[in-house]
Amino acid sequence: MQSARRMATTRPSYIRDILKATQGRQILSLAGGLPDAQLFPTGLLARAAHELAETPGVYQYGLTSGLPGLVDHIATQNNLASPDQLLITTGSQQGLDLISRAYLNPGDRILAEAPVYLGALQIFQLAEIDIGLIPATDTGPDIAQLEAELAKGGVKFFYAVPDFHNPTGVCWSLATRLAVAELLDRYKVMLIEDAPYRQLRYRGDELPLVSALMKGEHLLLQSFSKIATPGMRIGYVQGSAELLSPLVVVKQASDLHSSLPMQQMILSLLKAPEFPQHLSNLRHHYGLRVQVLAEALQHELGSALSFDVPQGGMFIWARLTEDEAPALAQRCLRNGLAVVPGQAFWPEGAPGYEAIRLNFSCLAPAQLKRAAQRLAASMSESSTD
Ligand SMILES: Cc1ncc(COP(=O)(O)O)c(C=O)c1O
Repeated sequence: MQSARRMATTRPSYIRDILKATQGRQILSLAGGLPDAQLFPTGLLARAAHELAETPGVYQYGLTSGLPGLVDHIATQNNLASPDQLLITTGSQQGLDLISRAYLNPGDRILAEAPVYLGALQIFQLAEIDIGLIPATDTGPDIAQLEAELAKGGVKFFYAVPDFHNPTGVCWSLATRLAVAELLDRYKVMLIEDAPYRQLRYRGDELPLVSALMKGEHLLLQSFSKIATPGMRIGYVQGSAELLSPLVVVKQASDLHSSLPMQQMILSLLKAPEFPQHLSNLRHHYGLRVQVLAEALQHELGSALSFDVPQGGMFIWARLTEDEAPALAQRCLRNGLAVVPGQAFWPEGAPGYEAIRLNFSCLAPAQLKRAAQRLAASMSESSTD
């Protein structure tokens, strides 16, 4: 059967394809956005799984909005006036999909910081909408361009990842956060703030959520994928009950509710006295790894790469001064290294400069050093290719 028209404008994920291609091969991967499985809180999760026997009700159908105990716990933690301001989702990816299906009509226009998180790009492409791109700077989106686009009118929402952006690793400055909040309020445009890396900060002080600085409409997406495990597929959307109610209807139609046993296990994990120690352990290891990779890249490659060392998250965004990213990614693969060429993060595959995204959370420090050596070897092959 012929697939739907919208499939023609939706690209498969380069990263999923590369992960498939590398499976079972002796490849060091800096390509995925994976947390390190060695650092999963498996002991705490084993205890949480054991405790499921005490709450057999979680094996029944449940409420679309989420397991009441988990919803109440998060609402209290986040100082929300009501649990109606939360919707538990099957990962924050589903939160984005629900927002897209509840709020966007084909032909609508949204704005997004470019480069764009690949999973969001796929959702927006499926929605058959027009994506206005706001170039990222090293302190957040270009404010003048954002204002120029907002002034044209007809923008449904601005999608942004202010804390340790995927793929650039940038953390927006306070000035940028204040400016974006003011602009969106002034032009009455909703903010979709996607914050899965917010709790993975290794240096510097925490900054306010952009949505917390706004008076107007906003939705916040949060995830347990990076701080617990991604395989559990639990995240949530936070916002006013009014903005969430169409999402609840789409979720009813989509999957009724997210897995209750997984929600119960996340609740046990959040309540475990050892959980704060798990979080600081994660920050310690990832904070070390970003330094190891940054130093190895500098040592092996010097000025052939230019990058800022991110204060958190999982990615180094490295601009190439003398190479083309797609060709380099192919040479890397032949040399046993997977990286993502920057083009994957633009709808039309045209960033206007060459860059690669390097994940530092998944490999151990010694492997990160080897990965930098393979990258250097692949780059030195360019003239002979
Ligand atoms: C910016 C961003 N948003 C959302 C997601 C999806 O995360 P989840 O596992 O919660 O669906 C990711 C995953 O890498 C991401 O990087």
